[in-house]
Amino acid sequence: MDDLTILGLETSCDETAAAVVTGLPPGPGRIRSNIVFSQNEAHAPYGGVVPEIASRAHLEILDDLVEQSLSQAGITLENVDAIAATAGPGLIGGVMVGLTTAKALALATGKPLLAVNHLAGHALTARLTHGVTFPFLLLLISGGHCQILAVEGPIKFRLYGSTMDDAVGEAFDKTAKLIGLPYPGGPNVEKRAASGNPHAYALPRPLLGRGGMDFSFSGLKTAVRQLTAQREVQIDDVCASFQKAVIDILCDRTAQAMGQFRGDFPKAAAPVLVVAGGVAANRTIGESLKHLAESHRFEIRVPPPAYCTDNAAMIAWAGLERYALGGRDPLDVSPRARWPLASLDGRGQSGKDQDGA
Ligand code: KG4
Ligand code: ZN
Repeated sequence: MDDLTILGLETSCDETAAAVVTGLPPGPGRIRSNIVFSQNEAHAPYGGVVPEIASRAHLEILDDLVEQSLSQAGITLENVDAIAATAGPGLIGGVMVGLTTAKALALATGKPLLAVNHLAGHALTARLTHGVTFPFLLLLISGGHCQILAVEGPIKFRLYGSTMDDAVGEAFDKTAKLIGLPYPGGPNVEKRAASGNPHAYALPRPLLGRGGMDFSFSGLKTAVRQLTAQREVQIDDVCASFQKAVIDILCDRTAQAMGQFRGDFPKAAAPVLVVAGGVAANRTIGESLKHLAESHRFEIRVPPPAYCTDNAAMIAWAGLERYALGGRDPLDVSPRARWPLASLDGRGQSGKDQDGA
């Protein structure tokens, strides 16, 4: 098969993005353009994403980004094989903007449409960037998602665990807000943590050492709230202590999942742990997971930060993987606010996928 070229659109949260990717599974692929417009400034005064503001901002800028992504790639719509857009999960207003734009482009050009699951986009990024082969273990940590799963194919996912309350990025953002750091909290907490003492404050590690692979972060956030209400605190030390607690939780759950993965896929001689999602951009977390992987004899792959946070190259690539297998979607496909990964191949399990958002 000749290389495929896919235009991808992403509008499920507060990044408006368009990208062109060329290649074939298993990758790596060639990212010919990757334009991301962050709406951070528009949402910063509210300390979080405001859905109404987000969808209007997507609508205003997406057409321009599509043009930019094509011209930067040096092609026109005529040269793409198909058009992919995030169809969920996410903020429904934003998802509708991207998906409707993709439908209009598909209708006007006669090119096929691919309705992509945003989480599948994050999950398959390590194939785009590193050509990682199936199956692999995926730790997906972002503002909306916190899951650990086995990725067996472009639409085949085995969910091991997910968060019972907040996603890990959400915990960073809420903690940042509590201690007066600007939105988005993650990068700011990481910056301040760098000069803090991770052992300064004793914070809880919910579920640590228990069986299972689910996560819980809300108790940690509550503990930070109580701490700051009780006494004068050192912000750098709070950040470092919070980040250390998150790392301990992530490493404990991931270690359990590594054992499960080895049992499920005994033939994988050098199993691979992929870390994806916005929180994977955190260097201290990345280093800790690297040590953990080494001690469990797993290889580790972390896509570059620009492809860990929301972007359209990952959506184009997830579309490309499905297109290569003959996947196509009808023009009346619906946007979905919730769309758990484990339901993609029709096996269900959606009940367990608590943060299908
Ligand atoms: O993947 P992403 O761009 O959007 C979602 O799909 O959620 O992830 C954004 C999340 C935010 O919660 C942000 O605070 C967090 O990722 N994040 C970080 C860092 N960079 C981004 N969290 C911790 N440390 C970072 N360096
Ligand atoms: Zn995301």
